[in-house]
Amino acid sequence: MADTKRQLNVLAKITTASVLLLVIVSGSCSKLAGKSQLLADGIARFYAPGIEPNQLPLSMALENEPVVIGSVDKSFRPMPSFGKDGLGRYSAKIKIEDGTSLYGTGEVAGSLLRNGKAIACWNKDCFGYNRLNDSLYQSHPWVLAVRKDGTAFGVLADTTYKCWVNLVNGIEFSSAENFPVIIINRNSPQEVLTALANLIGKMPLPPRWSLGYHQCRWSYYPASRVMEIANGFRSRNIPCDVIWMDIDYMDGFRIFTFDKKGFPNPAELNDALHKMGFKSIWMIDPGVKAEKGYFVYDQGCSGDHWVKTADGKEYNGKVWPGDCAFPDFTRPETRKWWAGLYKDFMATGIDGVWNDMDEPAVFKSATGTMPLDNVHRGGGKLPQGTHAQYHNVYGMLMVRATREGILTANPDKRPFVLTRANFIGGHRYAATWTGDNTSDWNHLEDSVSMALNLGLSGQPFSGPDIGGFCEDGDGKLFARWMGVGALLPFARGHTCKGNMDKEPWSFGENVERSCRAALERRYRLLPYLYTLFYEASVTGLPVMRPLFFAEPTNLKLRSEDSAFLLGGDLLVEPQLKESSKETVPELTGVWREISLVGENPAKDANQPVLKIRSGAIIPLGKVVQNTTEDSLDPLTLLVCLDENGLAEGTLYEDAGDGFGYRKGRYLLTKYAARKIGEKVIVEILSKQGKMQRAKRKTIVKLITANGVITTEGDETKQIVIDSTGLLQVEIKTKNKIAI
Ligand code: GLC
Repeated sequence: MADTKRQLNVLAKITTASVLLLVIVSGSCSKLAGKSQLLADGIARFYAPGIEPNQLPLSMALENEPVVIGSVDKSFRPMPSFGKDGLGRYSAKIKIEDGTSLYGTGEVAGSLLRNGKAIACWNKDCFGYNRLNDSLYQSHPWVLAVRKDGTAFGVLADTTYKCWVNLVNGIEFSSAENFPVIIINRNSPQEVLTALANLIGKMPLPPRWSLGYHQCRWSYYPASRVMEIANGFRSRNIPCDVIWMDIDYMDGFRIFTFDKKGFPNPAELNDALHKMGFKSIWMIDPGVKAEKGYFVYDQGCSGDHWVKTADGKEYNGKVWPGDCAFPDFTRPETRKWWAGLYKDFMATGIDGVWNDMDEPAVFKSATGTMPLDNVHRGGGKLPQGTHAQYHNVYGMLMVRATREGILTANPDKRPFVLTRANFIGGHRYAATWTGDNTSDWNHLEDSVSMALNLGLSGQPFSGPDIGGFCEDGDGKLFARWMGVGALLPFARGHTCKGNMDKEPWSFGENVERSCRAALERRYRLLPYLYTLFYEASVTGLPVMRPLFFAEPTNLKLRSEDSAFLLGGDLLVEPQLKESSKETVPELTGVWREISLVGENPAKDANQPVLKIRSGAIIPLGKVVQNTTEDSLDPLTLLVCLDENGLAEGTLYEDAGDGFGYRKGRYLLTKYAARKIGEKVIVEILSKQGKMQRAKRKTIVKLITANGVITTEGDETKQIVIDSTGLLQVEIKTKNKIAI
């Protein structure tokens, strides 16, 4: 008996110890939230127990401080619980139901589906990164959760400090500093994203030219080489809108200067490019060479604009030009000064700015960035804080100032800024690319899932370095990459110094032909793409969308990494693997294959299969060499009827640049098609905007199972297609190619 008692005692002790151990390991004392605020129906902000909202810094993710409309009901779902994680960091946990799929977390390499992954939100320079890197260049402490039944919620850990996102067992955010979480509960993933955009803001409508193809390398040097590249595109009839100038255009890597030998007359170069229908984008990094007599450094010193060390001295760290000082972008005076630097720079005819190394990257430092106890002095609503507090938003504050600067320099043009580092909400200021990837098949695959997850994290305008940045790769990879890259929101070819040439013609005739077809497809699709960008700027929905957006309850679509949607009506099915052929899970309903420039993906694996949704009308332009040419005469409407013989689609048009559209100088046309007997009638259903409709020819292509019926007409009147015979057998055959 005594023995049994002793055994029971021992057992009890062991059990208590293991429970204690478990508590320590898995994070102790999870408590429900403390203060909470209702921000809208189904949207609430929660604080850890004992924390007053005004004790924490103002949100940098949100566009405006939201209005609190009431208190949060106990029935609010999902409810976070606050506590400490296994390492003693503040944590917020959100349980998920079985079958919930997790996405978002911003710029991360690897699969679209994030269940089971753990990352750290910490902006990091990651040359040649891979799927094991837990941090890349940007931070989006945000998770989108899609439940089995297709309803969804999103969670934002609203902190600029380093933040770990652990999706191994539900959702857990943790950080060394306390933080609130915002939860959005909605009926679909789309509704979560539009609600997120209402909080963090929407992407401003970019200039239309920035949707064209961009050609870059580190670096085209000197100016005559830039012109060779420009001529290379035009002489080969390969569409392209933008040529990029990487750091070697600068005088000794001093920002806002030009190398006297290679780029003696930037205005002349920009002018020559403009005459050929090109725009130019030039790089500006944050590091300012610490050298007396250099005007940017001198101005920065006299304006006291630099980030300081913990003991109040000017912080210097090494980047391309050697020792550099770094502007303290938390200071409103510094942002104003920085913005002002763009006046003369842009006056040379520069069209857009590329802000790079803005994590900020610092060479030969223990952390790859500046010391975490460096001091940012803040101002306005931003308090003074350490680099640990402001590191993740350094790039975002920089591009905010850049955008303001180029807008002030050219008030009648829409700014275009590309940034490497950013933070959730930073799409308000800049587009992005996925940094220094590598010319291999894994990185080609990741191009799709990375851009998708950025879109699911609030950034609609992104894409990879097409062809891969590090290493040469080969023609097969390059052509395949161009095929899919040309269909991503941001399409730019780029490569590292020392690599072989990587222009569309660098790998021989076959690859050149493939690249031309890929880019011609993009240019034909520009009216549709531009309409999607317009919609993204209004609704916050991403341009490029995962397959499960079409059917949020279809669990087979949840982990689809290669096929994706452009908007709601175009399905893109690339072959991202070198040898094996991917099978795409089937979507419900009929999606019909289309061919835009005579390409046939069955014979050319470099061109992703494109399918139009039945019930959709997709507007197409003609192939142009750049967006200064009028692509909308003729306008082509691809029409694919649904089972009720109906279809609808939208076209957004405006001047392509400037802000006239904000005063109504745009045209938003909704087209509708209906089948009546043997005839299909296509007409304008509704229109908005004051822009004069151009007189143009309209070509309607009715996509059926048995082929395409083409008719020409005037969009302002009814266009009638006689479909005798062709539509009747349609139901029997599905997804047949239409050339
Ligand atoms: C960084 C950028 C890369 C650029 C290079 C030189 O590595 O990520 O795109 O070409 O710097 O400026």
